[in-house]
Amino acid sequence: MSANRPAAVVVLAAGEGTRMKSATPKVLHAICGRSLVGHVVAASRELSPEHLVVVVGHAREQVTAHLAEIDAEVRTAVQHEQNGTGHAVRMGLEELSDSGVVLDGTVIVVCGDTPLLTGATLERLASAHATDGNAVTVLTAEVPEPTGYGRIVRDPASGAVTAIVEHKDATDAQRAIREINSGVFAFDAQLLTDALGKVRTDNSQGEEYLTDVLGILREAGHRVGAAVAADHREILGINNRVQLAEARRLLNDRLLERAMLSGVTVVDPGTTWIDATVTVEPDALVHPGTQLLGTTHLAAHSEVGPNSRLTDTTVGEGAVASFTVADGAEIGAGAGVGPYAYLRPGTRLGTKSKAGTYVEMKNATIGEGSKVPHLSYVGDATIGDHTNIGAASVFVNYDGVSKHHTTIGSHCRTGADNMLVAPVTIGDGAYTAAGSVITKDVPPGSLAVARGQQRNIEGWVARKRPGSAAARAAESAHQEHRSDQ
Ligand code: UD1
Ligand code: CA
Repeated sequence: MSANRPAAVVVLAAGEGTRMKSATPKVLHAICGRSLVGHVVAASRELSPEHLVVVVGHAREQVTAHLAEIDAEVRTAVQHEQNGTGHAVRMGLEELSDSGVVLDGTVIVVCGDTPLLTGATLERLASAHATDGNAVTVLTAEVPEPTGYGRIVRDPASGAVTAIVEHKDATDAQRAIREINSGVFAFDAQLLTDALGKVRTDNSQGEEYLTDVLGILREAGHRVGAAVAADHREILGINNRVQLAEARRLLNDRLLERAMLSGVTVVDPGTTWIDATVTVEPDALVHPGTQLLGTTHLAAHSEVGPNSRLTDTTVGEGAVASFTVADGAEIGAGAGVGPYAYLRPGTRLGTKSKAGTYVEMKNATIGEGSKVPHLSYVGDATIGDHTNIGAASVFVNYDGVSKHHTTIGSHCRTGADNMLVAPVTIGDGAYTAAGSVITKDVPPGSLAVARGQQRNIEGWVARKRPGSAAARAAESAHQEHRSDQ
């Protein structure tokens, strides 16, 4: 729980984001496993605010539905027309007061398109705000290229913040300032509400600027302060897909660094991608070209990659998955997967089991020590312990209408190239012959043979293909055979 628990966090996310050139609303674009607004909501949650309001406008049905999915406690406020950041905050606060909430304390305002902003930075802002006893504290940053941002104007003598001037409204001298407004603020709730009522629209964009609240509060004799962000990249706002990629790279680097410092070996951070929601235990090893997505978890001493994509997949201690695509799978301790395996949802590989080369599995439970080593499809199946499935076998689970289940016991040996036509059960300790099409249950301990009998028609080549290379090869084999006798 934050020591400076705010009364509310207001997230501004009503803008359209035209420069994304996308059918998807800007704040719903995702990096590292969360939408842009999802990252902002997650960072805001670290402050444990009493209320969290997201101001939505453009594509609000979609944005609201997404928010309900990621955080059931989030409230939304609708801003029908995007009349500026001040207007947006006003809509957020009105939503709360309309539902009877009386805010007392601090209101934090953040933008929905700054996914790199951390909870720790918000904490520092809130604590500077409280310690300095400010009416408003703005989070600022020194940036190499300030074009487009609001500039922080300070009193030359005292260094105190006097105003924020938007780029479009700034003089040449003000445009030379490299300290910019991040768009993140801490406000006293009551003073903010009062000041928003006084914000005018006589600026180049005809909008209610949130930034004008600073000047209003200062003129009324209140303390206005600034907290400078330690790393200006943290406040990067996403406006186009170049910035989206830049933010993804920065956030990925941050997440990998955290993993490496906690004891994970990442062979090539440049080609490894990890979602914010992934957890990795110390001494796991990640090879190049690997994507770890969603709720994926790697246990200690597991090894993943190269060239693998794991989504919502757990990898047990000491398990190895190479050249693997897995989605919604559980890989048991010491299990081996790949190279070239595809594990689909509902795959559960037991301890020390194996899904080998060119093996696909779906909705399949593989018992301890059981192996499916080569070229097989295992769908809708339960396999017991210490069973071996022959190479090139197919669990024939689909009759064109419904999916059916195959059950195989423990200590079975199925032959190579079997078709196991579901629904079918093979009992414990049973064997099946190579090339069998198994359509009937096999009792425990039996051998099932289900294939055509072989018939050799002797002399066929000499009669039907006389003078051919095959006929000559056969003739010399016969001669050798005769002279051997
Ligand atoms: C704003 C700041 C600027 C700051 C910059 C940081 C103002 C007037 N300017 O400028 O000082 O340097 O952010 O990125 O505040 N939004 C709404 N409703 C609106 C307008 C905006 O919800 O009516 C939201 C947008 O979706 C966005 C955020 O507010 O998430 C910022 O809006 P944007 O239009 O990007 O503001 P800037 O002009 O970049
Ligand atoms: Ca912006």
